[in-house]
Amino acid sequence: MSHVPLIERYRERLPFTAEDPVVSLQEGSTPLLRAPVLSEMLGASVRLKLEGANPTGSFKDRGMTCAVSAAVREGARAVICASTGNTAASAAAYAARAGITCAVIVPDGKIAQGKMAQTLIHGARVISLAGNFDQALTLVRELTAAHPIVLVNSVNNFRVEGQKTAAFEIHEDLAGELEALFIPVGNAGNITSYWRGFREVGAAPALYGFQAEGAAPLVLGHPVEHPETVASAIRIGNPVRWEDAMAAVTDSRGSIRAVSDAEILTAYRLLAAREGIFCEPASAASVAGLLKYGAHGARQIVCVLTGRGLKDPETAIANNDGMIIRCVAEMSAIEEAVLGEV
Ligand code: F0G
Repeated sequence: MSHVPLIERYRERLPFTAEDPVVSLQEGSTPLLRAPVLSEMLGASVRLKLEGANPTGSFKDRGMTCAVSAAVREGARAVICASTGNTAASAAAYAARAGITCAVIVPDGKIAQGKMAQTLIHGARVISLAGNFDQALTLVRELTAAHPIVLVNSVNNFRVEGQKTAAFEIHEDLAGELEALFIPVGNAGNITSYWRGFREVGAAPALYGFQAEGAAPLVLGHPVEHPETVASAIRIGNPVRWEDAMAAVTDSRGSIRAVSDAEILTAYRLLAAREGIFCEPASAASVAGLLKYGAHGARQIVCVLTGRGLKDPETAIANNDGMIIRCVAEMSAIEEAVLGEV
């Protein structure tokens, strides 16, 4: 199935007909990988949904193929988004593919290098805002109300429609046996999408969402004016899908809880060092939540790893457990470097 674009694979469940234009980079159909170390730790079957395997390295591509295809169908010439980085990279890539223009508004100095690199090379106009994501989103909503530019944040329903397909895939791969899904939450579009997807196939796993402690409005019950976290992707203080996310966890008998930056980084390193999976810090919030709060009795568990580790090389290098051993080009020095005690 991996060669089939997402819209083609699930067309009968998406708002597209066979005649509609499809802007695709062959997104979706991502691996659902067994996690032996986590399974052993939890005493349950834990799998990882590797959304970093999407073309631009995050789950955003599922939503973006739909949002940009719909924009092209409507004759749009430009798309725009506010972003902590991944939406920007995805919008830039799909706009490039469609031959339309893209602008992104990002919080100045707060998006990871890999995401900035992607967004720039795809030719998007990058506006670096002296403000945070929430301010960027407010401004971009006002802007698109006044100008003919399509907003491709997850307020756009096509984004949610596309992202719900991840739930279809998990449901198919596990033959309906999934009991609990662990997922990071920022603007809350993705947890909303998963719940919609599961409902559409008649499934009802418990959804456990996790925010970073310094950016946990859904846990606190009020917006956070100055969100802070090492997980820059989810540095969001006022999620646009607030009500939808709360409905998803209430209806599924799950919860939204907080994990600290230290817990996120511990999970991030464990995934890389023990499971062989390098995800970005925000993605590790799902596993951090599983390790912190447990599985609530569930035996079939999936943690969503939303984005690839290479998105954020700075954090990986700043938080590594190993070290770089500098060495001169002589055998005795090499022997000491390779075999000596560290
Ligand atoms: N994980 C990653 C890697 C993300 O980039 C995001 C959101 C989330 C989790 C949270 O998903 O917002 O649907 O609850 N990134 C957005 C962006 C905000 O602009 O790239 P959510």
